[in-house]
Amino acid sequence: MRGIALIGCGYWGPVVARSVELTERAKIRWLCDQDEGRAKALQRKYPTAKATDSLAEVLKDPEVTAVVVSTPVSTHSAIAKQALEAGKHVLVEKPITLTAGECESLIKVAQQTKKVLMVGHVFEYNSSIQALKSIIKSGDLGDLHYIQSERTNLGPVRTDVNALMDLATHDISILIELTGRVPQQVSANGHAYLNSGVEDVVFCNYTFADGLLANVHASWLNPRKVRQITVVGSRKMAVWDDLDLKTPIKIYDKHVEMKAVGGSADSFLAYKTAVVDGGLFIPNIQLNEPLLAEIQHFLDCVEKNLTPRSDGVSGYRVMKILEATSASIKQGGAAVAIDVGPAKILHSAA
Ligand SMILES: NC(=O)c1ccc[n+]([C@@H]2O[C@H](COP(=O)([O-])OP(=O)(O)OC[C@H]3O[C@@H](n4cnc5c(N)ncnc54)[C@H](O)[C@@H]3O)[C@@H](O)[C@H]2O)c1
Repeated sequence: MRGIALIGCGYWGPVVARSVELTERAKIRWLCDQDEGRAKALQRKYPTAKATDSLAEVLKDPEVTAVVVSTPVSTHSAIAKQALEAGKHVLVEKPITLTAGECESLIKVAQQTKKVLMVGHVFEYNSSIQALKSIIKSGDLGDLHYIQSERTNLGPVRTDVNALMDLATHDISILIELTGRVPQQVSANGHAYLNSGVEDVVFCNYTFADGLLANVHASWLNPRKVRQITVVGSRKMAVWDDLDLKTPIKIYDKHVEMKAVGGSADSFLAYKTAVVDGGLFIPNIQLNEPLLAEIQHFLDCVEKNLTPRSDGVSGYRVMKILEATSASIKQGGAAVAIDVGPAKILHSAA
């Protein structure tokens, strides 16, 4: 049984601890939080685990194989670095770090110490996202025209990072997973209504090399909880709804045909549009527990010395896109080129 140390016992930490224990391959050995009271409160659920506020104490325990970092984003880099240097494998919650530069340094430390560095891009382990990816890859939708991703709710409001870093991180990792591509350019707007300098809402437009467009709307200042992605292809369209636990994917056999009706070819009157509606298809999808699948994958990588699907490079790629998006927001929506450098090569390319 692998010994796991959980760093950060706030909102998400207990969810992670539950999944670690569910694997039955690993056990929570340490609960660590700078607020020791939180570690002790969670210890009531895991009485064999030790509670502490000292990261150093955790890292000197040889029985700790791996560390899961579930603290605020600004602390990820320093904690993950110390853990890697102490010879522990590390799973860091999303977004991997505050900056791409910090992430690059972490990747180097993981390479030097030959330890696994993985980021918790949990939706990449979601079976319905994987099903949507297969549908896109099969070509059933035709040529991809655009993707629209919506992630809204009223709260939880964060003050340490904005809605882009907190919420849109998920959508960006999903976009890369679904398309096997990285966008080339972004134009984005956002606004801080509640806390000065911390955008509560962002609207981001991404352009890919082949003309594919993607829009990401993320907000914690919205009356409705929405977790939806619409994929529009030349032949069919698909809608993914994470909150629909029975039928998360619907495929609409719908498209528009432009029929020539005579006259000059460049005239509007030469064509008439025909809406083709072949009905609705609902694929049967075996739903999984994405976080459990993510932790299982992390343990596989630790045990078999594999490179995680969402490795440090994957985290870096998402960070570079987040940084370009932030730059565009600061410039009032100006187009900003996205350069992820060598991280263009995707492990999980479609
Ligand atoms: N994958 C997901 O769907 C998902 C959902 C929620 C949160 N998260 C991520 O999980 C991480 C934690 O988020 P949260 O909502 O639990 O935050 P939180 O503020 O509720 O909890 C963070 C905890 O970390 C502790 N902490 C802060 N600095 C520390 C340090 N240096 N050492 C030890 N403990 C420290 C705090 O005392 C707090 O208990 C973030 O990276 C967030 O983005 C992911």
